[in-house]
Amino acid sequence: MTALDVMGEWAAANPASHQLHQRAARVLPGGITHASRRADPFPVAVARAQGSHKTDLDGHDLIDYVMGHGALLLGHSHPGVVEAVRAVAGRYQHPGACQELEVEWAERVCRLVPSAQRVRFTSSGTEATMLALQVARAFTGRPRVIRFHGHFHGWHDAAKVPDRVAIPTALAESVTVLPPDPEAVATELAAGEVAAVLLEPTGASFGALPLDHGFLATLRDLTAAAGALLIFDEVVSGFRWAPGGVQQLAGVTPDLTALAKVLAGGMPGGALAGRADVMEVLDVGEAGPKVHHPGTHNAHPVSAAAGIATLDLVADGAAQSRADELAAWLREQLDAAFERSGTVGFAYGESSVFRVVLRQPRPAGSPTDWWRDPAAPMLRSPSPELLGPLQAGMLLHGVHLFQGRGLVSSVHTEADVERTAQAFELTLRRLKREGILA
Ligand SMILES: Cc1ncc(COP(=O)(O)O)c(C=O)c1O
Repeated sequence: MTALDVMGEWAAANPASHQLHQRAARVLPGGITHASRRADPFPVAVARAQGSHKTDLDGHDLIDYVMGHGALLLGHSHPGVVEAVRAVAGRYQHPGACQELEVEWAERVCRLVPSAQRVRFTSSGTEATMLALQVARAFTGRPRVIRFHGHFHGWHDAAKVPDRVAIPTALAESVTVLPPDPEAVATELAAGEVAAVLLEPTGASFGALPLDHGFLATLRDLTAAAGALLIFDEVVSGFRWAPGGVQQLAGVTPDLTALAKVLAGGMPGGALAGRADVMEVLDVGEAGPKVHHPGTHNAHPVSAAAGIATLDLVADGAAQSRADELAAWLREQLDAAFERSGTVGFAYGESSVFRVVLRQPRPAGSPTDWWRDPAAPMLRSPSPELLGPLQAGMLLHGVHLFQGRGLVSSVHTEADVERTAQAFELTLRRLKREGILA
């Protein structure tokens, strides 16, 4: 019998995930419910989760670094969050009316996030960035929007440009996608048609190509001078990079901020927060150009309860510091694993995020210079032919990476980090043996 390769061995060890995927493919396109969950040979399915661990359908214990796509800064099912959700579930499911929880939730956002004078809740991060663009266009009376290459803002039409599949031409043409280069931005702003500059203040894809804070300050000046709004998408970084997000760390206050993930403590929810005069366009009772914003589940009580509990637990910054320290240590350990296994690659990341880049030596300069390389591999790493073996290898050793990267929570442990680094070294050695890595 020939030995199985890494993906074959993982597939053989996960018959329940495989069976579920086959069943799923009969009712769900591609057998999945989120584009990023497509995986070779098939995606892992999870039975339950607690803290920093989850158990897959085949009973394997996994250290989790997907962490609810970044929503779970406090880990899975934090007792304080679960208790808050339980308490509200028996009180009402959907009051169909104004409620105290949405006010309490917004008060916390306003306390923590520097740009937040008013808050409008949505059901997701996608809706938050979509609403941000509507509000900016209504407030400025201008049509155009500037975005940056590789920055992710969800899946509404404007967020998908430059991908133009199924996007109306007129809408696609109203969005200019630029490199994060002040001169390019200034040139585009000069015509006076830009309503807003929208970006992830972490840099593309929560810090794959980080930006320096000076660039954020420059954008602040350029947009203010041009009468355009500055919108930070802090869907991932909000409450994670610091209780007040990147804007708190950088000392740069945008006009509008899109929030989600940690905001709602692992439940569905998002928000647009910002300057009171700008957010006024959502007050349909007043005169002037208005943005009508309904939404059945805006500030859903369960999300509000989880969000309030979470924001209270992260308000002093201790949870973020703990997660950041562990992530920094893990990045060091991953680098050491590259070294020991004799494979080319490097780990990097900011805040509580880590990323690994395989087959590439660490580029020169600081990570905030890397966007200047037009072929920057960091955005596409690991490449698809490496991702399957890397994910499978790590899963075989009990670690679930988020597509070759990860988000650390405040409840991961030193033992988790050690086990992860060991798993990584063993995986690198195996990929080398199988000829996948040189
Ligand atoms: C920076 C950023 N903006 C917006 C979104 C979209 O949020 P959601 O998935 O809640 O629609 C995401 C999701 O990952 C994100 O990372």
